[in-house]
Amino acid sequence: MTRVCVVGGGGYVGLGYAVALAELGHTVVGLDIDAARVDQLNQGDSPIFEAGLPEMLERNLASGRLRFTADYANAVPEAEIVFLCTGTPSLSDGEADLRQVRAAATSIGAHLASGRSTIIVNKSTMPVGAAELVAGIVAEHAPQGASYAVVSNPEFLREGRVLHDILHPDRVVLGGDDPRAVATVAALYEPLGAPILRTDHRSAELIKYAANAFLATKISFINDIARLCERLGADVTIVAGGIGADPRIGPRFLNAGIGFGGSCFPKDVGALTRMTEGAGLHPGLLRAVLEINRDAQRRFVTRADQLLGGLDGRIVALWGLAFKEGTDDLRESPSVAVAEMMQERGAQLRAHDPAALANAARRLPWVTLCDDLYETTRGADAVALCTPWPEYAAADLKRVAALMRGDLFLDGRNFLGPRPVEAAGLRYVGIGRGARPALDAGLASLVGG
Ligand code: UDX
Repeated sequence: MTRVCVVGGGGYVGLGYAVALAELGHTVVGLDIDAARVDQLNQGDSPIFEAGLPEMLERNLASGRLRFTADYANAVPEAEIVFLCTGTPSLSDGEADLRQVRAAATSIGAHLASGRSTIIVNKSTMPVGAAELVAGIVAEHAPQGASYAVVSNPEFLREGRVLHDILHPDRVVLGGDDPRAVATVAALYEPLGAPILRTDHRSAELIKYAANAFLATKISFINDIARLCERLGADVTIVAGGIGADPRIGPRFLNAGIGFGGSCFPKDVGALTRMTEGAGLHPGLLRAVLEINRDAQRRFVTRADQLLGGLDGRIVALWGLAFKEGTDDLRESPSVAVAEMMQERGAQLRAHDPAALANAARRLPWVTLCDDLYETTRGADAVALCTPWPEYAAADLKRVAALMRGDLFLDGRNFLGPRPVEAAGLRYVGIGRGARPALDAGLASLVGG
């Protein structure tokens, strides 16, 4: 069993790995510079909303295999492997902000033990070239006689499924030029049974960005087709089913809606755009992906505005604030963008979310937040479903219709579909589900009529 230190051990990725590696039997110290968070974690209180995390945290603290500290001296010198999991947020121009990574690499270097060899695993999503950057910073601060190697090992974790994705990966990517270090890290993952791809640092680093950019491209592609469906009178859910049945395309990530958000896709596509420009190339496709995504939210609000004869003074029930279901995370949430645009146009918002209300109270203080879904609809002119939480599929829509003063149901995720909504007497408007007159107009223009 290996002694592991996870730097950034209080964040989504770091905490997930700290807990999961302890679960696999390793001795793990999670390091976070936020002392209050460290105390909270040592008491078994997870600051993060993740399926299975509280139980796994508690179990591994109790077993003695897991502890947390804010002190590098108390974590790094003993470790055989140090996972670097600090955040890499975006700067305003889209470039990755590596300040936390630099600070962590400096402290890791300064605390390496002399006469010992330590492996540093780059887990954070960092631009191509980051392994050399980290190795250089560590070299600058390491004491005489300490040896180390860096292995690039990107994560592909989905929020809400972090522990599942760590313990059941599709693949493990290991980049590095020290075969012994790569083999040691590979041994950590071998019990998980996933294919292990060994490569150079730069290819490993690019795999992460390319994977996220490709998935984001799928979403923007189907959102672009959704726009066309609205003009031509086709139904994007049927088109997506028809193309997704081709195994070369695949059905996943073809849900049209108000677009992608979260801490990864917008940031990583932005960073890849900057990397492409930095390499002297034109990031045309990536720019289009981001633009279509922003447009998806704008179009949704414009639609609401048109259908309500103006949003000023209208009461809108917003269903879902998190950037996706299964998380309380509001970062880059399309729902938040929709809420802000609606508010600017004078709408009064009453919002529900099964998990994100505490975060929303800080982020959206001008929105009336309701614990009870039906409370949002009291006197509302429209419902705008923005996050596909299962609770919404189970809602009593007749009750909703009775509570509303209007009848508009805007399904920003094509989640409920027209049938149950119309059966409750509400007017259903989804994304990319064209109306007949538009078809006629579209066809007419095509045939020159
Ligand atoms: C993503 C990647 O899936 C993961 O591999 C990577 O490591 C981090 O980024 P995550 O941000 O947790 O994970 O969310 P994901 O489930 O991929 O969804 C991202 C966004 O896309 C959400 O806002 C979601 O609502 C939206 N989405 C997803 C769509 O709009 N349509 C789809 O078909 C799929």
